[in-house]
Amino acid sequence: MLLEVRNLISGYGKLKVLFNVNLDVEEKEITVVVGPNGAGKTTLLNSIMGIATIYDGAVYYNGSKISGMPTHKISRLGIAYLPQMGNVFTELTVNENLRLASYLLDKAEVKDRMDEVLSLFPVLDKFINRKAGTLSGGERRMLAIAMALMRRPKIILLDEITTDLAPIIAKKVLNQIIDLRDKLGLTILIVEQLAKIALELGDQAYLLVSGTMRYSGKALELLRHPDFSELYLGIKKI
Ligand SMILES: Nc1ncnc2c1ncn2[C@@H]1O[C@H](COP(=O)(O)OP(=O)(O)O)[C@@H](O)[C@H]1O
Ligand SMILES: [Mg+2]
Repeated sequence: MLLEVRNLISGYGKLKVLFNVNLDVEEKEITVVVGPNGAGKTTLLNSIMGIATIYDGAVYYNGSKISGMPTHKISRLGIAYLPQMGNVFTELTVNENLRLASYLLDKAEVKDRMDEVLSLFPVLDKFINRKAGTLSGGERRMLAIAMALMRRPKIILLDEITTDLAPIIAKKVLNQIIDLRDKLGLTILIVEQLAKIALELGDQAYLLVSGTMRYSGKALELLRHPDFSELYLGIKKI
């Protein structure tokens, strides 16, 4: 298991948000956590990255405990995090955004990775000198993902990557993510409120409601569960 969350109780200051949460992310799989607004999805990612307060339980990466480590050390282990909002600099060009994301790399590395990333996202290559603010919503998400990839992470945590996108564009972005898994061997953890499209494409799925995990299993099984709506809204429990 690449990433393991064990009996996690976490939140902010004195506010507990997650209660005894367990999560397994298998290498090279797409793991999807769905749940309504306020369920604690972002807090789960914040807990993995060392941003939220952990009261009990632990997070393991490659078998080593990472909870308690500072965020910059966690990210240096190869864990990339795309927060929910504003991931690109709108006043800078695509090229400048990608360079900014690779400030820790030396020049030769930047060139290599830039070539690699642009071959994965031809649309960014096409718009390389355009300001990010002029890109469409879908293209901007791709730029944000491309920026994260400049540091060649092993795992990428994506928060609401398809929110506010038209379904067809959301599908395109998610298909692009599957492609990354296949081409780069990337491991992907997605948290999403609008669950359907992500569940169609994911391997394993978790349902988080009011800070507790209500389901874990195959993504398609959750999607096709006869009580999906009731479970999602927290009306029913398995
Ligand atoms: N930085 C924060 N400080 C205090 N409380 C927060 C913070 N971020 C989120 N919360 C609270 O934590 C709960 C879960 O929020 P969040 O993890 O953002 O849910 P989701 O991502 O599933 O919508 C909410 O009640 C929210 O108000
Ligand atoms: Mg959120």
